[in-house]
Amino acid sequence: MAEPNRAPAGINTNVPSVARVYDYFLGGKDNFAVDREVVEQVAKLMPAGWNPGTGAQDNRAFLRRTVRHLTREAGIRQFIDIGSGLPTQGNVHEVAQEAAPSARVVYVDNDPIVLVHARALLGRDPGTAVITADVRDPDEIVGNPAIRDFIDFKQPVGLLMLAILHHINDHENPGGITRRLTDAMPDGSHLVISHFRNPGAARPDDADLADRCERLFNDRLGAGRWRTQQEITAYFGDWKLLDPGLVPLPEWRPDPGERIEEHPVYHLFVGGVARKN
Ligand SMILES: C[S@@+](CC[C@H](N)C(=O)[O-])C[C@H]1O[C@@H](n2cnc3c(N)ncnc32)[C@H](O)[C@@H]1O
Repeated sequence: MAEPNRAPAGINTNVPSVARVYDYFLGGKDNFAVDREVVEQVAKLMPAGWNPGTGAQDNRAFLRRTVRHLTREAGIRQFIDIGSGLPTQGNVHEVAQEAAPSARVVYVDNDPIVLVHARALLGRDPGTAVITADVRDPDEIVGNPAIRDFIDFKQPVGLLMLAILHHINDHENPGGITRRLTDAMPDGSHLVISHFRNPGAARPDDADLADRCERLFNDRLGAGRWRTQQEITAYFGDWKLLDPGLVPLPEWRPDPGERIEEHPVYHLFVGGVARKN
């Protein structure tokens, strides 16, 4: 049942939202019954004992490692985080500012609940900005005056597109959207992508699970694509993919001593980082 008393104005609690479903996967509290129901349906597709948080937690750990890499090794001091999601532990600005206190982050999401919660959390933090915009209109992002005020497009940018492109349907042209954004970035910029993957014939059981998840996400959330390795790699265009390439999330430069364990969605969620020139 919906919980209308807890919903901020303008938030529809009768229809699941990607941001709130993801929040529940991460063990957050900013979600409603309708969102939790989607996670329960996903759990039914998985083997018994599956921990629904695994994929989302792998993704947040990947985010932390990549942002740390961009800040410490690549000298990036400004980030655009598109499809940023609800604030959670280890937000981009927290990770980046740990290494570089002057790092600035603009959070972009099209779900109004993200704006409500992010503004409440970030207040007047001068190192962050929160913008409501839809990535399906990349011109709106590239030309947004608030973003242009905040980001110096002559200096390298960390462009973060984690767990968002798989929520863009094929007919909405995710490749064209990504190209419009990457073309606007100066040399030395880095692109981080994480994306649901269908491993295809090489892993038939995983491919079958990917197909079933895709049907469920489309049915409940209107979008959710488990694309092929080749399709996801193409989003990086002619930017140079850093080692180890596009890999299952835990395999992207694990922290020293980190134990990597395969789990039911291990091969279904991949990520990579690329550099422009
Ligand atoms: C699964 S969450 C990922 C959050 C964060 N990037 C991460 O990886 O932890 C996807 C986010 O993308 C946002 N999103 C989905 N479609 C979008 C669109 N067309 N434009 C902007 N944001 C979108 C959702 O609202 C949600 O907050």
